[in-house]
Amino acid sequence: MCGIVGYIGPREAYPIIIEGLKRLEYRGYDSAGIALFDGKDLKVCKTKGKVVDLEARSDKEITKHGSVGIGHTRWATHGVPNDVNSHPHISNSGDLVIIHNGIIENYESLKKELISRGYTFKSDTDTEVLINLIEDVKKQENVKLGKAVQIALNQVIGAYAIAVFDKNKPEEVVIARLGSPLAVGIGEDEFFIASDASPFLEYTKDAIYLEDEEMAIIRFHKGIKIRKIKDDSLVDPYIQKLKINLEQIEKSGYDHFMLKEIHEQPKAITDTYRGRLLRQEAIIKMAGVEDNMKKFLNADRIIIVACGTSWHAGLVAEYIFEDLARVPVEVEYASEFRYRNPVITEKDVLIAISQSGETADTLAAIKLAKSKGAFVFGVCNVVGSSIARETHAGAYTHAGPEIGVASTKAFTTQITVLTLMALRLARAKGTISSSDFRHHLLELEMIPKKVEEALKSDAHIQKISEIYKDVNNFLYLGRGYNFPVALEGALKLKEISYIHAEGYPAAEMKHGPIALIDENMPIVVIATKKGHYEKVVSNIQEIKSRKGKIIGIVTEGDVQVKELADHVIEVPETLESLSPLLTTIPLQLLSYHIAVMLGKNVDQPRNLAKSVTVE
Ligand code: M6R
Repeated sequence: MCGIVGYIGPREAYPIIIEGLKRLEYRGYDSAGIALFDGKDLKVCKTKGKVVDLEARSDKEITKHGSVGIGHTRWATHGVPNDVNSHPHISNSGDLVIIHNGIIENYESLKKELISRGYTFKSDTDTEVLINLIEDVKKQENVKLGKAVQIALNQVIGAYAIAVFDKNKPEEVVIARLGSPLAVGIGEDEFFIASDASPFLEYTKDAIYLEDEEMAIIRFHKGIKIRKIKDDSLVDPYIQKLKINLEQIEKSGYDHFMLKEIHEQPKAITDTYRGRLLRQEAIIKMAGVEDNMKKFLNADRIIIVACGTSWHAGLVAEYIFEDLARVPVEVEYASEFRYRNPVITEKDVLIAISQSGETADTLAAIKLAKSKGAFVFGVCNVVGSSIARETHAGAYTHAGPEIGVASTKAFTTQITVLTLMALRLARAKGTISSSDFRHHLLELEMIPKKVEEALKSDAHIQKISEIYKDVNNFLYLGRGYNFPVALEGALKLKEISYIHAEGYPAAEMKHGPIALIDENMPIVVIATKKGHYEKVVSNIQEIKSRKGKIIGIVTEGDVQVKELADHVIEVPETLESLSPLLTTIPLQLLSYHIAVMLGKNVDQPRNLAKSVTVE
């Protein structure tokens, strides 16, 4: 989604904003822009395209000078991606300038009202309406910018993170948030504004994260004042010390963030179970689960809500919670759940899974479940994110920043957390024997080493990718624990290579998809030794008789599938319940290599955003 960067202080704002926008590129965008106050006047430059296009245009069009500025990467919602619709937007007088992430839902009625009062609009955006509404309030009510922003936002329905300034009073920037993240980096007599902390990490580790319905007035030399938008009450700023460093958000020699993140999985999984999985003592320690054990034990069922890859992790969790902890689980797309009047009671536990912790649909599903009295537990990667704050309790995944739009290490670390939770619950319920529990701990502890082994197939997978990179369709099949992995493999391929791919439970093939199979159709079949192996082998035979091209994901040393398949990719042996942590790896690499070979933008695929903060 859109990215926001701003600066107010003694330095030149332009390079800080441009570099900051590049750090936010991972969020997904289609145009970029910047507004600077150069000491005399407001300079605005914006363009459809990437931040490099903005730089090229700025070279020609503006003086890149000034110590106050705001910059934006736009992911189009209202109005096509073009120069005019790009942000920043300027008010009719030319005095006020705004950048905005989110959607103003009632913008049409506000626009009509403003037009009737003589305002004109150049763009199709809701944002241009908002800046003119602020201007109108400022004039009508004869108030300062901060007050005008507050009054205007109280008339607005929707979601926003905004930064606004007035060229006549450039020593002050007003920001506000509702539903879209916004952080302020606090330097020495300087302030950085951004959608997340990555743009200002090299300048300061002190940050304030605005809460929903809060606004801040930031004044050069005078500091920051935070207020509630609704009732104007003052809020004490809570300054956090950030723990992430610059290295974590750089490519560290890899060609793409996605590849780096695929290779980071052994460490990410270890970091996720460190301090929680205590094998020697044969215990699992998870404060969020421990403190709320009664809620889990008394739950009639667990409902899991999530979107995309996180939803796939939820599907894996369904198998493991039911299998080990014998508790009924339902897995729901957050976007459907929130709108279908679901039956939720106080005896339900809802687990919300989200890498970003900002997904609008998941957040709305949480609020709905809370309003019906359910206990809500979050599994998030981004510390301090909206979902992490909105849930009653939770467990972080500790994957570290995930920059590639295609989720990789978030998926495997989500499964790690959910596995730990299921095991802890199973132990508490007595649905797992002590020896089985110990066995699971041992096997889980060995997963990072086994992921390293699985990563060694990279060169082999590259060769397979070369053979199939030009096909138009792929099928992915798996059963049991590996059915969700088939869905995830297909999603990875779709989103970064734009090749059509579908995931199915292998046995469902006979009920329709088998009609698609001919000699041109590559079919990735997850056929590891444990779990329905013989059944999957029969499914492979069915494909073979229809001349489909079989890429088998098999357990090391497999013989049977090797004889039938066109290619096999081996993964080390593990428990069936843990196999998704290994079988996912070759599928991530396959989609990565195909996308690279096709020349696609792997880290920022078209139309996609890293965190989907609009519904
Ligand atoms: O941040 P979240 O985990 O809530 O995001 C959910 C989906 O938007 C996300 O998993 C998306 O499907 C990814 N692009 C998948 O790679």
